[in-house]
Amino acid sequence: MSEQTNSIKHVASPLARQTLLDGSLTGPVAGVRPIRLLPWLQVVKIGGRSIMDRGAAAILPIVDEIRTLLPEHRLLILTGAGVRARHLYGVGLDLGLPVGSLAPLAASEAGQNGHILASLLAPEGVSYVEHPTIASQLAIHLSAARAVVGSAFPPYHHHEFPASRIPTHRADTGAFLLADALGAAGLTIVEDVDGVYTADPNGPEGEKATLLSDTSATELATHGGTLPFDPALLEVMANARHLERVQVVNGLVPGRLTAALRGEHVGTVIRTGTRPA
Ligand SMILES: Nc1ncnc2c1ncn2[C@@H]1O[C@H](COP(=O)(O)OP(=O)(O)OP(=O)(O)O)[C@@H](O)[C@H]1O
Ligand SMILES: [Mg+2]
Repeated sequence: MSEQTNSIKHVASPLARQTLLDGSLTGPVAGVRPIRLLPWLQVVKIGGRSIMDRGAAAILPIVDEIRTLLPEHRLLILTGAGVRARHLYGVGLDLGLPVGSLAPLAASEAGQNGHILASLLAPEGVSYVEHPTIASQLAIHLSAARAVVGSAFPPYHHHEFPASRIPTHRADTGAFLLADALGAAGLTIVEDVDGVYTADPNGPEGEKATLLSDTSATELATHGGTLPFDPALLEVMANARHLERVQVVNGLVPGRLTAALRGEHVGTVIRTGTRPA
């Protein structure tokens, strides 16, 4: 893409003479589907509140299940923040801290849960890695070990969008952004309920709630009630480049995560906005 004229080197670029603000000009260049960096990777988000906060009773069985999955899959395990972040939001909001101050603090709680999980899986060669390592050295780590653990929080930190006082982009959104950017084979979100219901199964309307076994981000966007993941996840799912679906499973029921990773329809399958290549 370069030419030599009178010893001056010209570097040709299809975007060189354009504003990046006009979609009709950038579209033909930027509209192509990106490559899949790690097409064999399975990303698993472990709930902070739903799994990690329950302590040994919930963590040890899921660790056992992950251990038996390692020969079958190469995993990026990402942890949510849980109750300590809720407490932190409460104190921080009371003190008037801006969202950009709260986001990195909550993210550090997600990281702590990751460290706990990685310690338990250390005998299998699993370790906790920080975001810069996930960004640039995940492939080498996953060549040395069958899985690594990281924080599911996205790194917006002080750049968190000020749409809400509580960070908008939390663990579920972060897990999806990573999985889609890496072109992973799948993303499984591990909760303490069987999947996504028509209403919170543990809420006042819980008895009437029914499980949605197959739904879409578009359908859930009109849902209105609460969901077991960040609402921002629906927005990023609508613009997915690779992941065609996300599966939500109950990590308190042994075998559900295994079944999901084997491609079985357990829990809730949520379709994204992307189409098969
Ligand atoms: N429509 C819904 N379907 C299923 N569960 C729901 C729904 N609405 C609310 N919930 C509740 O969401 C709970 C899970 O909470 P949450 O998603 O905050 O936990 P988590 O994913 O472990 O948290 P973290 O973000 O810290 O990782 C479930 O136990 C359930 O009671
Ligand atoms: Mg959740």
